[in-house]
Amino acid sequence: MLIYMDHHATTPVEPRVLEAMLPYFSQVFGNAASKDHEFGYQASQAVEQARGQVAALLNARPEEMIFTSGATEANNLALFGVAEKYAERGDHIITCVTEHKAVLDGAKRLERLGKHVTYLPVDSHGMVDLDELRAAITPRTVLISLMAANNEIGTLAPLAEIGGIAREHNVLFHSDATQAAGYVPLDVQRMQIDLLSLSAHKMYGPKGVGALYVRRSNPRVSLAPQLHGGGHERGLRSGTLNVPGIVGLGAAAALARREMQRQATLLRNLRDQLWQLLQTHIDGVALNGHPDARLPHNLNVYIPGIESRAFIAGLKELALATGSACTSAAVEPSHVIMALGFGEERAHGSLRFGLGRSNDAAQVARAAEVVVGRVEQLRALRRF
Ligand SMILES: Cc1ncc(COP(=O)(O)O)c(C=O)c1O
Repeated sequence: MLIYMDHHATTPVEPRVLEAMLPYFSQVFGNAASKDHEFGYQASQAVEQARGQVAALLNARPEEMIFTSGATEANNLALFGVAEKYAERGDHIITCVTEHKAVLDGAKRLERLGKHVTYLPVDSHGMVDLDELRAAITPRTVLISLMAANNEIGTLAPLAEIGGIAREHNVLFHSDATQAAGYVPLDVQRMQIDLLSLSAHKMYGPKGVGALYVRRSNPRVSLAPQLHGGGHERGLRSGTLNVPGIVGLGAAAALARREMQRQATLLRNLRDQLWQLLQTHIDGVALNGHPDARLPHNLNVYIPGIESRAFIAGLKELALATGSACTSAAVEPSHVIMALGFGEERAHGSLRFGLGRSNDAAQVARAAEVVVGRVEQLRALRRF
């Protein structure tokens, strides 16, 4: 049996989420914008319920949620929407070297369009220095975009502190919370977050749907739409709504909110068990990321001497990742591990375990056994 430990790449749709979605494919199939008849009205009711469910996960108001095709689109809407709308106020954006490509590549595009971007470095745990953040802000800065949780090493950002700094300097704060939403508490009020991206398929919802939180008061954030058309989603994101997907996102958010604490404890215990086993049996194994401020279900480790790509390919029983799936077409070292400052060997020799609802203690024990066995085999070969 194959053990799935790549939950940062994607998660299966939870049966309760799937059940909530099913009627919206062919029974309640109306266009949520066609509210003049019952078909459309029912679809729009379902969308509004989901909007409330997603908002509740963030302590936001339902009307502050804009549905998108996922976090990539939400990040693009936040970056380009702010850069365009606030162009007269400023042309400078601050982000960080360990962001997901869905932010970094947008930032590079903005540079080509004449904007200025500061890419903050991180320390060896993947943390941004808040004094460096403060120092990077200029009178031309319009946006700080820093992720809530890193998708490779799980490091959590001090969102409330960053939000405080942004507010103090009158700069908008966007956070890509794709990996954090549903796993750690997020509160856009307390953390003073102005824009936040999330994605359903990282929290047991369907692929191809996500949302952008856009603050509507204190301050009211304006965005320039990036998709033009029928004026859906308050004119910010035109296109017929993906009703079953949105219902799935809502159900996943509601489930995550109800079960977050219990799941986090379960996942943290499994993760710690796995780390314990690897530490006990593998000489020189090291943790990538922050020892405490990290996602409960993430474990990223460096194993000296392995080439992680080949290593993973050899593990037929276990589905793991070397880093971000979204960049795995290119055989370049992970930009996240490189940014920690340990050099290429570490970036090529690291494994990412993403634990999830389907994993249990027996699977963790087996996964550790498989990895340890393979490391021992490789190291024995090298001795000859
Ligand atoms: C941190 C982060 N941001 C953005 C994305 C992209 O999300 P989506 O697949 O919904 O476009 C991912 C997915 O890998 C991610 O981990």
